[in-house]
Amino acid sequence: MAGVFLSDIQTLPKRAREHIAQGAVTPGYHADRDVVLRLLNEALATEIICVLRYKRHYFMAQGIHAEGVAAEFLEHATDEQQHADQIAARITQLGGEPDFSPEGLTTRSHAEYVEGDTLEDMIKEDLVAERIAIDSYREIIAYLGDNDSTSRRLMEEILAKEEEHADDLANLLQDLNH
Ligand SMILES: [Fe+2]
Ligand SMILES: [Fe+2]
Repeated sequence: MAGVFLSDIQTLPKRAREHIAQGAVTPGYHADRDVVLRLLNEALATEIICVLRYKRHYFMAQGIHAEGVAAEFLEHATDEQQHADQIAARITQLGGEPDFSPEGLTTRSHAEYVEGDTLEDMIKEDLVAERIAIDSYREIIAYLGDNDSTSRRLMEEILAKEEEHADDLANLLQDLNH
């Protein structure tokens, strides 16, 4: 039974030549590309909204002399920016176009942009947004399954970071209340 799941060694290079303009997307790509691109663009919008929200919170927290919390907000903003870049790069690898349009950004995003009046509000809103991202990324990962393992691995890596963010925020909230 060895090799039963492998494509014929002859047909692989032949198929690779046939669709050369499709770059990384080979005939062996079994995911529904349009759906994957839509999901990745929603994740991109989510990350951009998170960058904007964390930046707002960073500058506002500085104004109320909460330097420790502000530093945490800035660190998260930087992470979310990196996630946005990684997702955008994957979208172009799949032959799609990353959607950076401000128009409809909040509709495409899963997480919300909430400013928050107090430091506690800001942390709470960030925690809510992280938890939304965690749930939606988990769903995207389940959808991708074995059909697009590169996108799945990327989203798993990002998910792990969002879980760290949520944990950081839960700790900040606890410190604030003691
Ligand atoms: Fe992120
Ligand atoms: Fe995050």
